[in-house]
Amino acid sequence: MSVELDPRLLTRAREVVSSITGFRDDAIAPEAMERVVRTELARGRTPADLLGELLYPQSPLSGTLVRAALVGETYFFRQAEHFRCIAQVGVPTALRRGALALRGWSAGCASGEEAYSLAACLLASVPHGYPVEVMGTDLHEASLETARRATYGTWSRRESAPRLFPLYQESGERQVTILPAVRRITSFAQHNLLASLPERFGQFDFILCRNVLTYFSMTAREAAIALLVRALNPGGLLFLGAVEADKVPAGVVREGAPELQTFRRLGPGEDVAPAPAPRPLERALEFKPILPVRRPKLVMPEQAPAVVPPPTPARLHLQALERIEEGDVERASTMLESLVRQAPDYLPGLLELALLRERSGAREAAMPLMRALRSRAERLPPDHLVDGPEALPARFYQASADAYLNLGALE
Ligand SMILES: C[S@@+](CC[C@H](N)C(=O)[O-])C[C@H]1O[C@@H](n2cnc3c(N)ncnc32)[C@H](O)[C@@H]1O
Repeated sequence: MSVELDPRLLTRAREVVSSITGFRDDAIAPEAMERVVRTELARGRTPADLLGELLYPQSPLSGTLVRAALVGETYFFRQAEHFRCIAQVGVPTALRRGALALRGWSAGCASGEEAYSLAACLLASVPHGYPVEVMGTDLHEASLETARRATYGTWSRRESAPRLFPLYQESGERQVTILPAVRRITSFAQHNLLASLPERFGQFDFILCRNVLTYFSMTAREAAIALLVRALNPGGLLFLGAVEADKVPAGVVREGAPELQTFRRLGPGEDVAPAPAPRPLERALEFKPILPVRRPKLVMPEQAPAVVPPPTPARLHLQALERIEEGDVERASTMLESLVRQAPDYLPGLLELALLRERSGAREAAMPLMRALRSRAERLPPDHLVDGPEALPARFYQASADAYLNLGALE
């Protein structure tokens, strides 16, 4: 007989997953959350212990829940019309524009079939020797490991999807391996689509982000699309899944029929609102572009005074986190106290300091910080993305404070 689970625990689990991934609540499978929670309880952990761990978005339990919620369904040359559009329209246009190299990004690549399909498509569409590269990113590290192995079974090759360009060779019983030339120009890195893309990843001429945003809340979807647009070179194309944008995103125009869900970033001199600024959220990722990264030229106004902007709360917060990692809790505590004084509305700072107090056993000192966090978070729209080391919605902070303030009742 299965034991009834504390609903607060499951609610919190969903809340954490939704905050990290951007998923709508109804896109998170309840069974997946239950399975993880039951496994932890079966290991002898208490509900209060689990709730305590879920105050930390980077905790192992949060990671396990996120992995359980992600859906990695994919196959080669899925939505073939996008690859045809790239080969027949996108590449010839970019070559006419004088692009010196072509770069593609499969954003939310799962186990890599989309990234390799894009690489094969680009390789077959450019003159011999022309520089091409593709990056595949995903939140799910195990999927990326599969992608890097580059060996696939029959499930990745659907009858419904044509094999448009040379992509793989037979390598064993019902197994195929990606062709060396395609593999050479494709690399993979972990990346959350709610985070701004680190500058070293560069800009792209073709971005595929399909069957990913369909799980996202409206706010998360808009934030992710703005970041994707930002990563496009002028003239570059963004391809979304069939129902993943109900309007033309800012900074791009529609290309082709509406059902193609393809958007082009306008070039300099073309009349368009600038792409919205990305959210400052970085993760340390190992990715070295194969091609030199093309950066937009910075035009400095003449005789502009050299103004050094003050560090943002998120930067100060990151510095405090570095001290925590080095074990210098005292210094971190001083830095966070000063941060909370300077920026009392910076929710991640309030949470960090409260958790630091809790970890040092000073619950009385943590309580007022958590109350301040709750009252400030309550004033924001629940889906408002709050900048910090990780962009999380206001409801995450409110729920964190609630969970903490209610912990006593569970212990
Ligand atoms: C259904 S697969 C789609 C794969 C491929 N794009 C395709 O269309 O075949 C969705 C992928 O998006 C990834 N994903 C979901 N949320 C994400 C996020 N916030 N950041 C990065 N990847 C995410 C999942 O891990 C999963 O591998």
